[in-house]
Order: sequence, then structure tokens, then C-alpha cells
Amino acid sequence: MIIVLDFGGQYNQLIARRVRECNVYCEVKPYTMSLEEIKALNPKGIIFTGGPNSVYDETSPHYQKEIFELGVPILGICYGSQLMAYTLGGIVETAPVSEYGHTEVTVDPLDILFQGVSENTVCWMSHTDYIAKVPEGFKITAHTAVCPVAAMACPEKKLYATQFHPEVMHTKEGMKMLSNFVYNVCGCAGDWKMDSFVETTIQSLREKIGNGKVLCALSGGVDSSVAAVLLSKAVGKQLTCVFVDHGLLRKNEGDEVEAVFGPEGPYELNFIRVNAQQRYYSKLKGVTDPEAKRKIIGEEFIRVFEEEAKKIGSVDFLVQGTIYPDVIESGLGKSAVIKSHHNVGGLPDVVDFKEIVEPLRMLFKDEVRKAGLELGMPEYLVFRQPFPGPGLGVRIVGEVTEEKVRIVQDADYIYREELHKAGVDKDLGQYFAALTNMRSVGVMGDFRTYDYAIALRAVLTSDFMTAESAQIPWEVLAKVTNRIVNEVKGVNRVLYDCTGKPPATIEFE
Ligand code: XMP
Repeated sequence: MIIVLDFGGQYNQLIARRVRECNVYCEVKPYTMSLEEIKALNPKGIIFTGGPNSVYDETSPHYQKEIFELGVPILGICYGSQLMAYTLGGIVETAPVSEYGHTEVTVDPLDILFQGVSENTVCWMSHTDYIAKVPEGFKITAHTAVCPVAAMACPEKKLYATQFHPEVMHTKEGMKMLSNFVYNVCGCAGDWKMDSFVETTIQSLREKIGNGKVLCALSGGVDSSVAAVLLSKAVGKQLTCVFVDHGLLRKNEGDEVEAVFGPEGPYELNFIRVNAQQRYYSKLKGVTDPEAKRKIIGEEFIRVFEEEAKKIGSVDFLVQGTIYPDVIESGLGKSAVIKSHHNVGGLPDVVDFKEIVEPLRMLFKDEVRKAGLELGMPEYLVFRQPFPGPGLGVRIVGEVTEEKVRIVQDADYIYREELHKAGVDKDLGQYFAALTNMRSVGVMGDFRTYDYAIALRAVLTSDFMTAESAQIPWEVLAKVTNRIVNEVKGVNRVLYDCTGKPPATIEFE
């Protein structure tokens, strides 16, 4: 196993991912982890991440010098490289010229880290400090026009450091460097696979849970579904999944989830479906403010779940489908509230349990999907697009009613079906129909109509932080429009949303 020791940089998750792409198991740990705890994990190598600080800041994260004497290979990246230099007696200074972005770096091809790497290679730099003098025993193994120590090494102690970021894709030969580190320096075999993640996780869940009772809030989304299947494979009927149908799901979704996880499905678990549709509709009656709607939906979810949890009584473990980007986001938590996201955040307060289990905590979305396939889950579940916790509640502008839910469900179903048929759905980050709160005049069969407008949205994005509107072929849009106005009662106009994010958000509320 490789430990990525997190000093607060923004690419930490990427480093872990790159190591896993080398088929080497990897976990991100906070820099506050003690030396004893690190030793106990018996890592084959450690990678120090970047971070926003200068090593001289009073509050900057440091690590005790003894870590360098463990005999475990260490690779320091960016801040991590400066920390290594500083801790071992080198000199770190503010660089006269900061380097950001693509930078040509000259490397020593004889150094083990740069084996097979071009002598002049493009790397991604992002730093204001630099190593001015390497510690004793180290040699300089790379430089740029303005950075004398772009990399350094002490092969005897297996200590390596790069000022640039080998983990980002803009560092052209970064993968080669990282694989040199994990294979040639750390001696990792590279035989870890996602399916061994599945196997080892099931095994360790079994050991951890023993005969304990486990409760899982199942939303039907990819993450909670994969988590539930892992738990089901590990402890079978000791697991109870509660699925709350809040009446704001996509068309047929409640039944689809039940078909997979319910008694007719292939998994061994206790499945409880709570049909809380009417309860939600009445709570949402007359409410038009987007944040108020989100709050109601989130709180109602907690209430419904609390009632179910009471019936079940105390459990030993509560499962959460947290994935790595959630961990990062909640770790930062400093950004402005654009929308209050509703997941299962409040559950720990209302369930009587001893411990939280988060089996996907170290995975990215696409890795979760791979695990899902490995577990034999149906593709339509595994490749589901992201669906917001508050569901159609944020795709119906203004007041939510049962009738409006029906309209948006039917329109969305047609839209998804036609995009799939036309084969244009694969490259899209997210696509759906939303119900605008606008009614306008139309004419159908010589009669005046005064009906709703549906907005179609499709965006290209991979991180969901920014997005651009996708160009759907006109003939596909024309077909969708035609079907929606003909098949969905209450709609006489279809609009396409051409806005990117920013300035719009992906969802409508
Ligand atoms: P926005 O609308 O903020 O959406 O651009 C970005 C991504 O987040 C999803 N989203 C949510 N997911 N709970 C969730 O789990 C929520 O409350 C929520 N609100 C938005 C949205 O579908 C998109 O993928």
C-alpha cells in the first residue's frame, strides 16, 4: 500500500487516483496521522502532497523528521518537496519568479524517477516558494530556466521530491514518473485491481461488522446502491436498506429501485420502501422559494428516516455512500452556499447506531462505477447520471404539485429515451427536462391553449463545477419537442437551455 499524506493541496485526490491507475492500492491520510499509525499500516511508500502554505508559515503543516528515517521511500510533491528539503536542513525561499502552468523542465534521465522520461519535458508548475539549497546527501535531478531545484533525490535513503506536479495530466510524462516511483523505488508489484478492492472490502466489512446490524439509506443513486450491494455481499440479511420514495423521483425510478433491491431482486438484504409521496406534496404545497423547498425536502427525509429507524431500533452500523470528492468538499467547506445540498447529512443525529461505515470513501465516481460492474450490478444503475437529492423538486420551478411532477416525469422520460435512441447521450455530463413556471398561449386543434413550457437541458461537464450547454442535433430536439407536446398533457411549448455554468447552475433551483 502507498500512503498519500495530505498536506492540504488541491490535487491530493488525483495523486491517489494515479497510484491506483498503476494498479497499486493507495489511501489518503491526513498529515496529523502519527508515525506509529503510519508504521502500523506498513506502507511500501509515502507521497507527500502539495499544499497552499509556505513551510515558514506559523500554521503550516509539518511532519516530524523521524518519518524520513523509517526506511520507507518518500516522494514529496510541490509543498511536500519543500517540506522535505526544509525538514532535512535544506533552504526554501520565495522564488524570484513564480512559475504557474506549463513549464519546460530539464531532467536527469539517469535518475530512477526519470527513467524513460525525455530529457526536456513539459511539467505543470504552481509555486511561489522554491528549494534554494538541497539538504546534505541530496542531488539535484531536474531544473527549469528559473527554478534551480525542480527535483531532488537521495537514492540511498529512497527520498525523492519534485517541485512540479507529476499527477496532473498537463505534466506530459507524469504517469511515467509516478510509476517509476511506485514500481522501481517502492517495489510495488502493480497487481492490485478494482476487483481486489471489491474482495478486500467485502472481507474487511465482514470482519468489522461481525454479527452486527447494519442500516443503509438507499437513494437508488450510484453511490448508495454500490455501497448497499457491497454490504449485502458482506453481511446479507444483517443489512436493512431504507428507500424513501419522496415522489420526486424520475419516472418509474421507485419501482426500478425496488426491482433491484426488493425481495424479487438478486440481493440478500432487508428492503424497506417508504412511500412518502403524499407527505412530501403536502409539505411542499404553496412553497415557492428554492431554498425553502430544498430545506423541506431534506428535513422531511430525515423525519421519514427517523420514523423507520425507530421501528428498526438500535443498529450497530450506519452505512453512508460517501465518495472521495464528498470527503474533499466537506473538508474544505469554506465556499459560499449556492445551494444547500441534501444528501444523508442529518441521519447520524436521528439513528441510534455505534459507528458509520463508508466503504467508498476512497473512490472517485468512475471507480465506484467500476466496482459496481465488478459486483455484477445492472449497467443502467451503474451508469446512472447524477440525480440531485431533492430530485424533481429542483427541476420544477416554483410550487411543486403532483400534477407538475407527472408532467416533468413524462417529458424527461421522452427526452432521455430519444437522446439514447439517437446515441447522443454518452458524451453528456447530465441531461434532463425541467418544468418552467411559465405558461403561455398556444394553439392545438384550432383551440387556444394556455399551458406550461418545458425546458430541456444537456450539459457537458466532468466535474459538475463548471459546465457548457451541449449542442444536441436539431433533428433530435425537433423529435423530442414533437413527442412532448403531443404526449404530455399540460405542455404546449418546449425550450432549450443554452446557458453554461456559470452563470446558470446545472439544476434550475
Ligand atoms: P448545480 O445545480 O449546483 O449542480 O450546478 C451541480 C451538480 O450537483 C447536483 N446537485 C445535487 N446533488 N444533492 C445532490 O446530491 C443536491 O441537493 C444537489 N443539488 C444539485 C446536480 O444534479 C449536478 O449534478
